[in-house]
Amino acid sequence: MMKHFIKFFLIALLFTGLAVSDSTSVTIYVVGDSTVMTYAEKVYPQTGWGQVLGFFFDASRVKVSNHALGGRSSRSFLEEGRLDAIMNTAQKGDFLFVQFGHNDRDASKPARYVDPKDFPGYIQQYVDAGKAKGMNVVLISPMNLNGSRNVFSTGDKNYDARGMMQTVAYNNKIPFVDLNMKSYNTYNTTYKNIPDYVTRYLYKSLQKGEYPNYPDGVNDGTTHFQEMGSMGHAQMICEELEENLRSNTNLSADAKAALTMLVSAIKKRYTIKVQTNLSNYNGLITQTQYFPAGAPMTLRVTPNGQTFEKWVDDDCNEVSKNMIYYGFKTKARDITYTAMFQGGSECKKIAHGAEDQYDENPTSSSSGNPTSSASIDAELCMDGSDTGAWPSPIDMSRPEEGEGTTDTDHEGYTGQGFFNIANNAASTATYNITSEQSASNARVMVRYSFDGTENRDMKFKIDYGIYDVAFPPTGSWTKWDTVYIDDVSLDALDFKLKIESTMEKGGPNIDMIAFNIKGVYRTGCGVPPKQDSVVVADSTKKTAPADSVKKEPKGSKSDSSSTSIGRKWMVEQTGASSAKFNALGQKVRSEKSRRHDVNRKTFLRRKSVTR
Ligand code: GCU
Repeated sequence: MMKHFIKFFLIALLFTGLAVSDSTSVTIYVVGDSTVMTYAEKVYPQTGWGQVLGFFFDASRVKVSNHALGGRSSRSFLEEGRLDAIMNTAQKGDFLFVQFGHNDRDASKPARYVDPKDFPGYIQQYVDAGKAKGMNVVLISPMNLNGSRNVFSTGDKNYDARGMMQTVAYNNKIPFVDLNMKSYNTYNTTYKNIPDYVTRYLYKSLQKGEYPNYPDGVNDGTTHFQEMGSMGHAQMICEELEENLRSNTNLSADAKAALTMLVSAIKKRYTIKVQTNLSNYNGLITQTQYFPAGAPMTLRVTPNGQTFEKWVDDDCNEVSKNMIYYGFKTKARDITYTAMFQGGSECKKIAHGAEDQYDENPTSSSSGNPTSSASIDAELCMDGSDTGAWPSPIDMSRPEEGEGTTDTDHEGYTGQGFFNIANNAASTATYNITSEQSASNARVMVRYSFDGTENRDMKFKIDYGIYDVAFPPTGSWTKWDTVYIDDVSLDALDFKLKIESTMEKGGPNIDMIAFNIKGVYRTGCGVPPKQDSVVVADSTKKTAPADSVKKEPKGSKSDSSSTSIGRKWMVEQTGASSAKFNALGQKVRSEKSRRHDVNRKTFLRRKSVTR
């Protein structure tokens, strides 16, 4: 009888336990900018801290929902209704983590800029919205930009986001996470005597061949972060939350109670010690970290003359032969990894404790970005998966808005045709583009043709940058050539690309552009489907007959003369002439182009039947 009772009691306890843990599960809603947002796998190692914060919390108690987006300031995030969207799903007791400053500070971009006298007011709006919902708001000062000057603190010409957020937090008796000072000190004190470490191991400055997603390297190392940088920030945020609980005497009773719960859900962090077997190593090496079990970790060396052999753990087991060993998960114990170099001491086992139990699944619960729901005609989505140096090709034939016509009457174009901009100065065409990563020195290729004697130069507005592009004549309307725009900077997820003629005669015919970085496409294309045909972009050859759809088997070698862009772009030569745009910028389709569509559909249907 007693036995039964105990059993019943235990079962009841178990159920109550479950119920309790369910009802105490909270969500941290994260708002911020490109230093916080979640990035796609294809741009790894670019990472925002909101993407990895979930690794630091017991996922059965705390979930992370990352709403941060590139290019946003405290004002533009609000104006786009993004805080309202969070308020529609957030529950009482959830958390709102707010980090802004990078784009607020940027006076060159009016749509984002926030005058410092207005900044506290915008931050207060997040506090008020959160409070009204019964959420717990935590203000996080923006991390330092790469360099020794702390632009987000007090000082001449600085934008004191740190001080202003601290004051708002103080006035509202809520936690203030000083990521700004913490990162500033880490970069300029702890890592001060390791030149290049911060730039090359934490910020997004990657050299040629270091990561497969950046075969040519990338220099975006003043503002944005790779995974280890953002893991470090998430770790700093946890330390600052703990510090608030220990020593912030200004918290309201509610804020303190909520913070107590949150801090208790932070996972145990282990020491991941990293060393070499050389006494005189003077290259770069990953510094010792404090991460929870199951978190992503990178071990890395950049030798300075020494010959690297392998990474070993404290049992002297080899873990990797790669100088950059990434994408592995940390263990549930303190651990030492040693970079073994030729001529260094032999590996000696280091005594260590057993691994703790931990729930490997689930680990991070950071959710991705709300992806753009815009739709676009799928045939405008180009596939860049096999295009080497130009992984992001963009079909320019049909802008979202434009003065001019979409034409197909000069052979050799790619995609669905080319845009023939109206023959006036200041004619424009605008395209909605999505970028999945930030860049400060992207290269853009523009494919065009025109027959004439004088240049038809244009202005290209890409995100917030305006670039003057010279277009010399190509010799004929069927001779396609390329020009390049260098040092293009992008930091918004979605942006407008606007081209504008500067000459009375208008601009050249524009076929396509391509970015040399991954993950840039016409909004709505998402990850473009892999196409299985590649046909002619060759101005010297005869095109396919009108109204036919020409396909070649994959890997066909039949055409290689092609273009100066170094690949064969897919072309579906059609006989359809121009799709016109009306005054509202809407496409007016010709009878011929409608007929083409019917033919195309028939073709596709036939194709699927014969399969
Ligand atoms: C010709 C040519 C067009 C071109 C136009 C121009 O009409 O066929 O494709 O756009 O000249 O001067 O812009």
